[in-house]
Amino acid sequence: MSDITRRAVLRGAAGLAGVAALGGLASCSRTTSTTVGPLADAVAAAEAARRKPGGRLVTARLTAQPVTLDLGGRSVSTWAYGDTSPGPLLRVDAGDVLRVDVDNQLPVATSVHWHGLALRNDMDGVPGLTQDPIPTGGTFRYEFAAPHPGTYFYHPHSGVQLDRGLYGVLIVDDPDESGRYDVEWIVVLDDWVDGTGRTPDRVLADLQQAGGDGSMSDMHDMEGMEGMDHGSMGGSMGGMHGIEGMQSPLLGGAGDIAYPHYLLNGRTPADPATLSAKPGQRVRIRFVNAGSDTAFRVAVGGHRMTVTHSDGFPVVPMPTDALLIGMGERFDATVTLGEGVFPLVASAEGKQGRALAVIRSGAGRPPTGDVQVSELSGKALLGTGLSTAESVRLDRRSADRSHSLVLGGSMAPYRWTINGKAFPDADPLPLTRGERVRLRFVNQSMMFHPMHVHGHTFALTSGGARKDTVIVRPMATLDVEFESDNPGQWATHCHNIYHAETGMMTTLSYQAQE
Ligand code: C2O
Ligand code: CU
Repeated sequence: MSDITRRAVLRGAAGLAGVAALGGLASCSRTTSTTVGPLADAVAAAEAARRKPGGRLVTARLTAQPVTLDLGGRSVSTWAYGDTSPGPLLRVDAGDVLRVDVDNQLPVATSVHWHGLALRNDMDGVPGLTQDPIPTGGTFRYEFAAPHPGTYFYHPHSGVQLDRGLYGVLIVDDPDESGRYDVEWIVVLDDWVDGTGRTPDRVLADLQQAGGDGSMSDMHDMEGMEGMDHGSMGGSMGGMHGIEGMQSPLLGGAGDIAYPHYLLNGRTPADPATLSAKPGQRVRIRFVNAGSDTAFRVAVGGHRMTVTHSDGFPVVPMPTDALLIGMGERFDATVTLGEGVFPLVASAEGKQGRALAVIRSGAGRPPTGDVQVSELSGKALLGTGLSTAESVRLDRRSADRSHSLVLGGSMAPYRWTINGKAFPDADPLPLTRGERVRLRFVNQSMMFHPMHVHGHTFALTSGGARKDTVIVRPMATLDVEFESDNPGQWATHCHNIYHAETGMMTTLSYQAQE
């Protein structure tokens, strides 16, 4: 985006009003709508309404920097927040204000996005849309009220930086919640390549080059098969990008990248994280999928889980053996522990490999990395199979506005689109405040896409769960609805970071009606 365009976007309504005041446009102002930019008065007013008297100010500092990490017997050079990945746990009560000073010690510009939070638009962390990038050596102060309790996370919204070690968990506690669990366990899943001979930027370049010879693209343009060629290319991309085998009965095309490692709380199965607890205790597991190209199927050996929250919001409690978590999704589940030593396995869906952790509530030998967990092959629950809790159900109301987002793409060239266009050439989707907005995701590719909307928590239609990220399976259509109550410019994209970076992104663009 050029500097001039970007400034116009940041200025939003105020900028356009300024132009009108110079003359000429005033007469048509009754019929024009203007973009509500991140610095618009409406954004500040929405924030003021979120601030609660008596809310605390919680401060933190994040330093994005190059580090060497031990993944459990394997040392890698990467980038992280501080000295660890996941980075520091940030925790506030709903209604508190969080102030985070970000110090960029990376060799490139960065940004921090607070994934899933309905926060003020100018703190959403999307360079070119809501703020300037934070340059090398620069700092940026994020400060916003956290309105809704739940499990969230933070990560850069710059290139494919999320696929390094740059992520951490943000928990917003509900001060009114009666603790119906004894132990909390935060479980962060990730697919890992950085420092193993390739960086995520190299992986992206390889995907783009492998698809760049034009022969496949000519063919699919000719036949009008945009979006249909995923999964039909065999292993022609070579090396780690073999496409064959990356298929899942549940998700179809399950990913573009075979990673050398899958991590749970930053550890490989060679040296897994361990939870120590007592038999009979109720554990609340907060799952976060911070991966870039991998959905994980999770299960606890010898136990059923009860899913209680999706993307922070409560659901009708649902027991299951296994749970499928797309990139950017979070689920909270409770488990009542038996006595012994149990594996928690997170298997890379449709890929070779898994992440592992250990629950210890009694004597026993630790599980090995290849331990068989029968629950994993039971029925796996997806977020689309959950129902919303009554307390967060959206009122029944007909849609004031509907947008279709047709998801397409191809491996050759490596390019992913919404309504046929790759970001930043996408057409923004207009909306105004106070509407019931329906989004229809129409997946016309053979790959699953975890679609994420910034600044809002939508509802799956017909009483489904409240979510901000939802898996749209190959060739499937999925409707979601939300209230347009948070003015600004909001990124909306696939949370496969390679898809988002090569185009599968657009903007929900609030307009002020004049
Ligand atoms: Cu977690 Cu726009 O993303
Ligand atoms: Cu995608």
